[in-house]
Amino acid sequence: MSRKIIIDTDPGQDDAVAILLALASPEELEVLGIVAVAGNVGLHQNATNARKIVELAGRPEVPVYAGCSRPLRRALVTAEHVHGETGLNGPDLPAPSVPLQAQHGVDYIIDTLMGAEPGTITLCTLGPLTNIAMALIKQPAIAGRIAEIVMMGGAYFEVGNITPTAEFNIYVDPEGADVVLRCGAPITMLPLDVTHQIQSTPERLAAMLAIGNNSATAAHAMLTFSETFDLAKYGWAGAPLHDPTVIAWLLRPELFTGRQCNVAVETASELTVGMTVADYWHVTGRDRNVNYLRNGDAEGFYALLLDRLARLP
Ligand code: BDR
Ligand code: CA
Repeated sequence: MSRKIIIDTDPGQDDAVAILLALASPEELEVLGIVAVAGNVGLHQNATNARKIVELAGRPEVPVYAGCSRPLRRALVTAEHVHGETGLNGPDLPAPSVPLQAQHGVDYIIDTLMGAEPGTITLCTLGPLTNIAMALIKQPAIAGRIAEIVMMGGAYFEVGNITPTAEFNIYVDPEGADVVLRCGAPITMLPLDVTHQIQSTPERLAAMLAIGNNSATAAHAMLTFSETFDLAKYGWAGAPLHDPTVIAWLLRPELFTGRQCNVAVETASELTVGMTVADYWHVTGRDRNVNYLRNGDAEGFYALLLDRLARLP
């Protein structure tokens, strides 16, 4: 039986590859809907990008919603310096013809969870946690109905990427992340500690291009664009690939290892705001609220990604 998921996202080239991976895996994952959030670029551009991706994957029936246009308490910080001015620079994708859904994305999340059997819907978050936090604030009863929240966000051993101590998704809306981390639903985190191990080396990108279908060719163009910034920054063999690890964990959890521990987010300090403090060694008695993943198998991950991209149009 396939697992029902909602993808909350700010696409973003790596978000787009995550969405493609999910849509390429219908035997395991039923994508109920995609909700855009402000993050890599503004809300409406992110929603447009999500609509382009469902069309690229040949799945125009998957509904796309727009959620919140800014974080709970702060001005929006965006990342055009990584993703380009459209958030999805690289491939030349046509303007989407599928409509944006009229319902607000936060209401869609609430209504979907409240209308389903408790424990049957997983939230996959690939961007700032604003929409999920707003949904939890508007309808707290959803917390007990979420099967699991699987998020790309945070870092502990690798510390930060947008500041020395904060990962982008958490940094953009630390108060939103705080609401989500305290909500009581099961949470799995894919932090930079994992995603910095999942590198898009030239060999892996060449294998993606060699698949030859439209989706893999576009994914290759996306990652080739977004890796320019990261390669200059890190000097590694390949740029880290973040958001698709969320979907890979749902498909192949054995590719990842970590442990259950407390994770809290810094919301007060100017110096370290957005830092995710993981009690990985259990030195406090704090509630072990997160399945904190620390390592990922890059070879296994890419084998999975390439196999699934090959199934798309
Ligand atoms: C995260 O930040 C975004 O720019 C990426 O899409 C990913 O979700 C990595 O820190
Ligand atoms: Ca993202």
